[in-house]
This record gives sequence, structure tokens and C-alpha cells, in this order.
Amino acid sequence: MKLAIAMVGLPARGKTFVARRIARYLAWLGHRTATFNVGDYRRERLGAGQPAAFFDPANVEGTAARQKVAMHALDEMIAWFEHGAGIAIYDATNSTRARRAQVSRRFKEAGIDLLFIESLCDDASIIERNVRETKISSPDYAGVDPEHAVRDFLARIAFYTRSYEPMTEDEGSFVRLVDVGRQVIANRVDGYVPAKLVSFLLNLHIQHRPIWFSRHGESLYNRENRVGGDPALSPRGLDYAGRLAPFLHSWARSEDEIVVWTSTLQRTRQTASLLGVPSTPWKALDEIDVGVCDSLTYSEVEASFPDEVAARRVDKLRYRYPRGESYEDVISRLEPVLVELERERRPTFVIAHQAVIRALLAYFTDKPREEVPHLPVPLHTVIELVPHAYGCTERRVVLGPGTDP
Ligand code: F6P
Repeated sequence: MKLAIAMVGLPARGKTFVARRIARYLAWLGHRTATFNVGDYRRERLGAGQPAAFFDPANVEGTAARQKVAMHALDEMIAWFEHGAGIAIYDATNSTRARRAQVSRRFKEAGIDLLFIESLCDDASIIERNVRETKISSPDYAGVDPEHAVRDFLARIAFYTRSYEPMTEDEGSFVRLVDVGRQVIANRVDGYVPAKLVSFLLNLHIQHRPIWFSRHGESLYNRENRVGGDPALSPRGLDYAGRLAPFLHSWARSEDEIVVWTSTLQRTRQTASLLGVPSTPWKALDEIDVGVCDSLTYSEVEASFPDEVAARRVDKLRYRYPRGESYEDVISRLEPVLVELERERRPTFVIAHQAVIRALLAYFTDKPREEVPHLPVPLHTVIELVPHAYGCTERRVVLGPGTDP
């Protein structure tokens, strides 16, 4: 499948925020993805720091230069599709019908499906927050006084507003986001991936809130380097469970604000049991199914299934345990959990297992899929992530002795 996604909207409407989230989500699901950001092309070709007047539609030179970089990015995007299937995002304002018609024609000629995603927002407080969070730290305003940068950027927006033409039904397939999720409109959207994207977009929001990940406390199997099974916690694991409540409550203003998810296995439920907050078990959060290796130690697996161990070493992401799962299988079954995590606005604590947390962590920290099976997720450590506009801040808090197989 070859799918182009073209963003549409005035500056500071969250286009890059949406583009990055979509790219991360699609890459995590295993699609080949790329993003072509016209702002980056402009900075690279014409230099950063162009004043607002450069974006005035009456500025003939500026308009021609911007048209040129936009077409250059488009050419490179079309060339990217020549190397194979995938999904690429054209991150630009595409603010006029004429520009969009040109973009549509180019993709049509190249045999590439196209979906526009338009972001409309008239809420001045959201726009100003976006300008302050993302624009004044852009290379366009390096070394510029922040208040001057905000004024200049608002002047740039005013220039674009003069020529902005919202999308109309006859322009093909598009999704319109109004005020970051207040309203989502799908126009002539069809196909599996575009429909999935609509549901992903329905759940995006820009509220900052922490997500905590932790493996269960040490289990009786962890003590023996045994995989799988449904063992209880060891005394050290119970000690860790007891340390979680003070950690969480030092953060939250009230207990009702915290959402706790566990797997259905007793080691995660026991870990959550001392929190004093109700928790919800998810089957999808259960540990990777090790099939015929269930309840064996790593050395027993090595002795009984040397070929399997060798195959796993070669490709740990795709390797599937006989009658069990691969990391790729785990990623697929975690998709609903991930969308629900994006949707949730309250602080959320996920208590799960090594492979499962590796998979979720990779999405939030934008790590390539190949790295998923190797991400360090030690026992007795809470990983705190706070998603923000273009990424996540990460902090790790060790709350007890780590014992790792
Ligand atoms: O050893 C603990 C454990 O959660 C096992 O149940 C699971 O098979 C393993 O970690 C996953 O880690 P890896 O893929 O590195 O073996």
C-alpha cells in the first residue's frame, strides 16, 4: 500500500503534533513511514529566521521561494515512494485550494492514495499555547526575545489567514479536526489504514498527564529465572508493591484521579493490591506467551530447544515461540491499550510485564521496532513518562532492589 497524508491548516494549529503522532503510531504498527516537513526544507534551503513579512502573500519573491521549497519536498516524497510501499506525511500548510489541487494531481499521477488531514482551530488560547510551547523554541527564533517571537509568529499567522481556504467536500478524501478533537469530520474516507487513523485521531488530546509503567514486583519465577506461568510475588516483590502507594500519592492530588491497569496475571494484580485504588485487569497486558517454554528456566529452554534459542537470537522481534507469541504479536494485541492510553486524560499507572512494557515504551519514546525486545525495563523501577507536544519526558524511579534474569 502507498498512502500519502497531507496536512492542511494555518500555522500553530497542531499539524506537526498530529503528523508526529501519526508517524509514530504507524511505524510502531510496522509500516514503513516518513515525514516531509516543508518548514524544515525552507530552513535548510533559505535559512532559518525569516521575518513575518516573508510569509506575506503580497511578497512575490517570498511566495515564489516558498512554492519552490514546497515542490522540492513533494518531489522527494514521491521519490521516497519509488523505493516501495509505505505511508508518508507531507507536513505543510497546504492552505489554498490551488496548492491542494496541485498536490492531489501529483500523487494521482504517481499512483499514490491521498488523505488530507485538516486542523481547524479558532480558540485563541490553544493557538497561543501552541506558539509558546513549540514555535518560540524553533530554529526560526533562535536567540530572539520570546515576546518578540510570539508577536512575529502571530503576524505570520495573520498573513496566512488572508489566503486560507478551508477544505470543501469536493476536494477528495479528508479528515477535519476541529479544536483538537472537539469535532472530527471524515469526508470520503475509505480503506483499512485511513479508517484506523480516524479512530486514532478521535482519541488524541493535548492535555499533559503522566503515564507510569512498571513491571510487577519480583515473582517466585523471577527468583529462579523461569519464564511465563502465573506465579505469586516473592517477599521482595511484595515489599516493592508496598512502596508504590506512597510514590503515587506523593504525585496525585486525589486518589480518584489515578487510573490503574494490570494484566490478568496474579503477579501484576498483587503488585497493584496495596495501592488503595481500584485497578482494571486487561488480558492484552499479559506477558508474552512463551508457548512450549512456559514455566521453564532460561537454562532449561537452552538445553531443550537449542535451535529455538538460536533463532530467537537472530531475530528477537519476529521470533515466535512454538505455540506462543513473538514481540510482533505482542505489539499487535497491545494496539487497543495504546489507543486507550492516548485517550485517557487522567494519570495512568500500567503494571504489566517486561515484554509488554518494552512494546508500549517504544511507542511513547519513539524507538524503532527492532529495538523493542532489547529495551531495558528492570524490576522495581517506575518509568514515568509525560507526553508533550513533540515527544515525552522520561524519568526512572528505582523503588527497591532490582533482580533481573
Ligand atoms: O523473565 C521475566 C519475563 O517477564 C518472562 O516471563 C518473559 O518471557 C520475559 O521476561 C521476556 O523477556 P525476553 O523477551 O527478554 O526473554
